Amino acid sequence: MTPKIDPLSPDGNGIFLTLGTRFYHAQMLSMHRADGKAMGLAVFHDASFIRDQSSVIWRQTLIHVSLEVLLIVLITFLIIRWSLMSPISKAAQWLKASRSGKPGEVAAPRSELLGPLAKEMEGVVKSLQEARAAAEREAHLRETAESLWTSDRLSVHVRKQLQQRRLVVVSNREPYIHTRQNGNLEIVIPASGLVTALEPILRSCDGTWIAEASGDADREAVDEHDRLRVPPAEPQYTLRRVWLSHEEENGYYFGFANEGLWPLCHIAHTRPIFRSENWEYYQQVNRKFADAVLEEIADTQKPFILVQDYHFALLPRMIKNERPDARVAIFWHIPWPNAEAFGICPWERELVDGLLGADLVGFHIQNHCNNFLETVDHAVECRIEWEGFTVNRGGNLTRVRPFPISIDFTDDRDAESRESPYVDRAALLAGVGVQAKFMGVGVDRVDYTKGILERFRGIERFLEKYPYYQGKFAFVQIGAPSRMQIKRYLELYADIEAEANRICRRFVTNQWKPIVLLKRHHSHQEIERFYRASDLCLVTSLHDGMNLVAKEYVAARDDDRGVLILSRFAGASRELHDALIVNPYDTEVIADAIHTALEMPAAEIERRMQALRRTVREHNIYRWAANLISELAEIRLAPPPAGSKAPPSAPVEIDAASL
Ligand code: G6P
Repeated sequence: MTPKIDPLSPDGNGIFLTLGTRFYHAQMLSMHRADGKAMGLAVFHDASFIRDQSSVIWRQTLIHVSLEVLLIVLITFLIIRWSLMSPISKAAQWLKASRSGKPGEVAAPRSELLGPLAKEMEGVVKSLQEARAAAEREAHLRETAESLWTSDRLSVHVRKQLQQRRLVVVSNREPYIHTRQNGNLEIVIPASGLVTALEPILRSCDGTWIAEASGDADREAVDEHDRLRVPPAEPQYTLRRVWLSHEEENGYYFGFANEGLWPLCHIAHTRPIFRSENWEYYQQVNRKFADAVLEEIADTQKPFILVQDYHFALLPRMIKNERPDARVAIFWHIPWPNAEAFGICPWERELVDGLLGADLVGFHIQNHCNNFLETVDHAVECRIEWEGFTVNRGGNLTRVRPFPISIDFTDDRDAESRESPYVDRAALLAGVGVQAKFMGVGVDRVDYTKGILERFRGIERFLEKYPYYQGKFAFVQIGAPSRMQIKRYLELYADIEAEANRICRRFVTNQWKPIVLLKRHHSHQEIERFYRASDLCLVTSLHDGMNLVAKEYVAARDDDRGVLILSRFAGASRELHDALIVNPYDTEVIADAIHTALEMPAAEIERRMQALRRTVREHNIYRWAANLISELAEIRLAPPPAGSKAPPSAPVEIDAASL
């Protein structure tokens, strides 16, 4: 008899129950026998293993999850530490080093994450360093009761003198040149003393610099008014570019300025060439620049205009005719010859009259001022007050004053610009292919006024006269090509090369030659290495307004070594009395000066160099600029005639300088 089975549990799956400490699965079944009697069957199954198993699973899962979480936390921590904490801590160390005045000791942070921040911070740190340097300088000056002109002092001074009036500078060369190099837009800053001198002035008063556009990509950088803000990294003033046609550039720059006025003003036995078509272009270009100036000052009163050099003799009169309220100065960077010499120029009168439009005409030295006044006396109707060095032409007063130009020489400049104070002379000479115990240096634009051929003949004579130095003394001549479109310059370039080769052939040995000619433009840093490695520097200009190479050489020698041999026909000879002063036409004198320099006792070299350095440091470029601006600000202007084009007076304007 087979019982019929019905599961008692409703779903037929049984139930779980706990009995005592044990856990069971119970399955109840009801059965019916054939005779109809009901029976029950209960099956108990010990189910504790399920609980045991599930707690094992839970435990293991928990451990896994915990381990994973731990791992993730650890990895995150390490990532943060490596990519964030480490650069932040390096940045903090760098800031700390910078704050304590030792920025070079720790490298600036370079990580991608902190890059933009680091860039900004570098700017802040730089300003901090500059402020600290300025404060130290001030403290030092107070301590030593010295009166040294610095870029900062000049800025403050200019702001005070200008009293918010507009300042415009005009020069032929521009301070920033845009060019395309391999498709990239690049900016070239010409190695010019003028940029160093004029930038602090323009920066301090947000002025405008007007100059000829000279870069092949200059047009790409200007706005619709031919203006751009400069310096490119930290714009503080405006550069206005003037475009000249090919014909204008040839006639005005190469022709009248450099084939006419340049040899006219330098007594260097190169005959000036005067062509009337060049004169036409000179007038036309001066008019073009005058229009640009007038446009820039159209809506301002009593502006200050600083015109630079022989390219713009007509500009002062052109500006002053239209704007008598403007204060106009022109600085003539080259010599002014005696009246007879200048008198050969067919347009002497026009040039002198153009210059007398200025309120102030500046030259490097008193002698050039004297020559100018004598020329004025000879060329035009006027009254000259010799005691006050003033010209009165038709009621218009022009002061004539010397302002010896200089270089950016302050103590901090030395330290910053130099990678290492030690220059290995043997390595430097090996780099240019010679071995020598003694070394001289010359640095010039290749120009017939610089006396480079005379210098070479002096070196040749020195080697003849003092044969001990054959095989031992090498002279490195750095010659930057210049104005090569002019025939005379091309010829000179070839002559210099031929003369150096001729002298070398006479004395050359296996490892040595007397003259090394480096005919390319060298950076300031490159030149400085030659200055610092040399025993002497030869500056033998046949005629020179000032000659800044002489001053650069002195500034480079913070080791108090090196002897400067300087032409008496360079303006610099009026200040640098501790140089060996020579007549560059006298070959014997140059030869003897080289010998004297090489045999000079160390104590005398040191004494002379220290004295030279004191002079250049005190009479630096900032003093030049400050004196020029002060003199211009001091001038009392005559009231503008009725009908002049000065804009109407602003309601309130304090103008103490013209009271
Ligand atoms: C002289 C002039 C400057 C001129 C410089 C270079 O120093 O006084 O006005 O800029 O020579 O000559 P460059 O013709 O190349 O401008």
